[in-house]
Amino acid sequence: MGEQEKNRSVLPVHVGIIMDGNGRWAKKRFLPRPAGHRAGAQNFRTITRYCSKIGIKYLTVYAFSTENWTRPKDEVGALLRLFKEYLEEALRDFMDENIRVRFIGDVSAFPPELQVLIHEVEEASAQKTGMVLNLAMNYGGRAEIVRAARRLSEDVAAGRRDPEDVTEEVFSQYLYTGGQPDPDLIIRPSGEERLSNFLLWQSAYAEFVYFDILWPDFTTKDLDHALEIYASRQRRFGGV
Ligand code: FPP
Repeated sequence: MGEQEKNRSVLPVHVGIIMDGNGRWAKKRFLPRPAGHRAGAQNFRTITRYCSKIGIKYLTVYAFSTENWTRPKDEVGALLRLFKEYLEEALRDFMDENIRVRFIGDVSAFPPELQVLIHEVEEASAQKTGMVLNLAMNYGGRAEIVRAARRLSEDVAAGRRDPEDVTEEVFSQYLYTGGQPDPDLIIRPSGEERLSNFLLWQSAYAEFVYFDILWPDFTTKDLDHALEIYASRQRRFGGV
C-alpha cells in the first residue's frame, strides 16, 4: 500500500459501536440496571461529540435491539425514557451541533410520542452537513435484510426493477443505511466478542476491536486507542 493510501485509511470513515455493559456497570455498584443505562446514555453523548469533533463522518450506535423488548418492563421503560430525554435535548441543542441524526430499525414499534420526536429530530437535523449519527433502535441485522428483500421483491413484482439487475450495490440501497458507506471499524466494549445482530450485511469487511471495559467507563482515550489499533491494521478486502 502506498503512503498516500495508508494515510487515507488511518481515520475510519464509518465507526459502529455496540454500547454494551451498562447492566454489569450498575451491578458492580449495587445499583439498579436502569442506573447503568443512564450512565451509558451520558457516555453516549460524550463519545458522539468526540467522534464528530475528530472528523468521523458516520457513527452508528446500537441503542436498542429487536431482542431488548424481552427485558423486564421497568428496564424497557427506563430505556424509553432515556431516549425521550435525549431526543428532547437534541432538539434544543441542534443550534450548536452539526450532526445529522438518522434512525435505523423499526421505529413504528415505539410509543407514538417517541415516534413524533424521532421524526422531529430527523427533520430538524436533515440539513446538517457534519457527522451522520445513526441510532439503531429496535434494530436487528437479520430483520433489516428481510425488510430489504421484501421491498426489493415489491419493486420487482411492480415491474420497477429487473431481477437481472440486482447486484450487491443495488441490494444495499434497500437497507436502512442505503447510500452510506459500510462501517470500517466496529467497537464492542464490555468483553463480549460477538456481533449480536448488528449491521450484519454492512460489516462484511469491518475491522473489529473489543475492549474489556464496560460502556459507561469507555472514555475518549479508549476510543483513540481503538482508532490506533484500526490504523495499524492492514485491510485487504479479500485480496492479498
Ligand atoms: C447493553 O448493555 C446496552 C443496551 C441494551 C442499551 C444501550 C443503551 C444505552 C447506552 C443508552 C442509549 C441512550 C441513548 C440516549 C441513545 P446491557 O444492559 O446488555 O449490559 P450487560 O450486558 O452488562 O447487562
